[in-house]
Amino acid sequence: MSKIEIKLSDIPEGKNMTFKWRGKPLFVRHRTEKEIATEAAVSLTELRDPQHDKDRVINPTWVIVLGVCTHLGCVPIANAGEYGGYYCPCHGSHYDASGRIRKGPAPLNLEVPYYEFPDEDTVIVG
Ligand code: FES
Repeated sequence: MSKIEIKLSDIPEGKNMTFKWRGKPLFVRHRTEKEIATEAAVSLTELRDPQHDKDRVINPTWVIVLGVCTHLGCVPIANAGEYGGYYCPCHGSHYDASGRIRKGPAPLNLEVPYYEFPDEDTVIVG
């Protein structure tokens, strides 16, 4: 199975970068302190696919998800939509900055792939 290695210091705070991994878009997001605090405070009762932010990240600074909308597979746009995370323009799904579905037709949160941090500046996905 193919893995991808990403240098984290290339991704500025507040930015989402898209990589290609196993033929799919992979999002790596460097969250701001505000985004981290906002997502940590979301109650499970507000969520369609209930998942705590802490169960979707290893290090709260970094959100690593597949850039594939769980509705019909379009690629969402980063830093857009009503929840400030991702917005899928195909049919209007709004995801938060943890990649959780908040509004629109998508049924599930953006998928979190297996990944690990071998050192402070590197993530390996896959
Ligand atoms: Fe994203 Fe339909 S594919 S909302």
